[in-house]
Amino acid sequence: MNVLIFYGSYRADRAGIRLARYLVDRFAARGDAPTLVDAKAVGLPLLDRMYKEYAEGTAPPAMAALAQQIRDADAFVFVAGEYNWGPQPGLKNLTDHFLEEWFWRPAAIASYSAGRLGGARSNAAWYAILPEMGMPVIPSTLVVGPVTQTLDAEARPTGPAGESLERQFSRFADDLAWWAEAAKAQHARRAPPY
Ligand SMILES: Cc1cc2nc3c(=O)[nH]c(=O)nc-3n(C[C@H](O)[C@H](O)[C@H](O)COP(=O)(O)O)c2cc1C
Repeated sequence: MNVLIFYGSYRADRAGIRLARYLVDRFAARGDAPTLVDAKAVGLPLLDRMYKEYAEGTAPPAMAALAQQIRDADAFVFVAGEYNWGPQPGLKNLTDHFLEEWFWRPAAIASYSAGRLGGARSNAAWYAILPEMGMPVIPSTLVVGPVTQTLDAEARPTGPAGESLERQFSRFADDLAWWAEAAKAQHARRAPPY
């Protein structure tokens, strides 16, 4: 499974990168091909034109490269932090640049926060946002909190919360892989209707 892991905090002291790195590591360990897409590193501007609104060949190179990465992926994971009960603007800004590029592949949500609720409100918000952009969202989700008591600075699971995450990850990944395989098979059988 060619899976893109999206993460969107722009903060200097960001903690959610631990969860993003953990997921890359664990998907790789099960034989998938994960790629971290760090919105801060991609550096798209605040939304002016969507990718499709640029004349062919005129989109900023980073935007065009990401469009191709998205089109080539089998599945997506959104590492969703929570600012004031909502999604992080950096991740939302990145996703809003694209639309058709997302269609007809499954997505999964892994939320986190500094508190015990693990970004549950942001998690719920993404369950509405992603289908609007053409992605079915799998039922399994990860809700990780407090993130710094679950993963250490090297993104290694730590303590009981880390053990719990390890147990939940395999079901999460199996769920996403099943839907990604189903989508791939259906793409081979019949082209999407639009
Ligand atoms: C502007 C802002 C708003 C926040 N709002 C919430 C919130 O609504 N719920 C929550 O659980 N944590 C909240 N937090 C704490 C974050 O969960 C915590 O800072 C987390 O590490 C943010 O992710 P990041 O470090 O990857 O940027 C907020 C943090 C910031 C900076």
